[in-house]
Amino acid sequence: MITTANIAEIRKQVKQWHMQGETVAFVPTMGNLHQGHIRLVTEALKRADHVVVSIFVNPMQFGQNEDLAAYPRTLADDQNALINAGAELLFTPTPEIIYPKGLENQTFVEVPKIGEEFCGASRPGHFRGVATIVCKLFNIVQADIALFGRKDYQQLMVITAMVEDLSLPIDIIGIDTVREASGLAMSSRNGYLSTQQKIQATSIKKVMDYVAAQVTAGETIELAIDAAKQQLIDAGFKMDFLAVRNAVTLAPVTDEDNHFVILVAAYLGNTRLIDNLTFSR
Ligand code: PAF
Repeated sequence: MITTANIAEIRKQVKQWHMQGETVAFVPTMGNLHQGHIRLVTEALKRADHVVVSIFVNPMQFGQNEDLAAYPRTLADDQNALINAGAELLFTPTPEIIYPKGLENQTFVEVPKIGEEFCGASRPGHFRGVATIVCKLFNIVQADIALFGRKDYQQLMVITAMVEDLSLPIDIIGIDTVREASGLAMSSRNGYLSTQQKIQATSIKKVMDYVAAQVTAGETIELAIDAAKQQLIDAGFKMDFLAVRNAVTLAPVTDEDNHFVILVAAYLGNTRLIDNLTFSR
């Protein structure tokens, strides 16, 4: 696997593959890779001849009081995992390469509506940062397809909307969340959790299963949500949000809807965990 921070080198290699008639998949990451990321690479290899991965802890998507400096950087381990998974090209730019004029002078991409609620409201500027870096990375790599985890449900919707709205020539593929045997969704942020917190964190999946079961059985969404929030608080969480929405639009549920997503964000100590579950009735 070639690792490079050089944009021209990435473009040259991808162009060469395309000239040979071969397809290229792209998996953007912020590193500190876990099985969820590796699944994206293995799924990418089923769909394309070559896989390009990027590792860039994007300062533009972190708020002022967030964990940018503390975000784990584990390049050597990440490289080994990617080689084993079959990735061939790794892009590891610095902030100076990506934002040479500084963040304040950077042109940005903002996706309206879909990115405004939930994580967009709790983390102002977050989705602007995500959309901007993903758009830039797409333009650098010029892959045919890109794969993202469904764990970041709203992020996937923001990126899909951006690609559609800006007519970007790339297909976006969502891949199901990888979970520990306990039900905890894999996330780089799990590394911040103590052993005790990791046990507490399993409540998120249980509570989502509870909401899905209650609503499917005819309970009102409001009552199911209230009970679920209380269960998370009892398990030691501080709530950010827990909502049931239309899975396709994220709009509030109407009587006509039958495909839903449960969106959860909650804190254990200083660690903010997010998860989601789709279900139908
Ligand atoms: O999901 C992530 O890891 C990041 O938000 C992404 C898509 C790599 C953009 O920095």
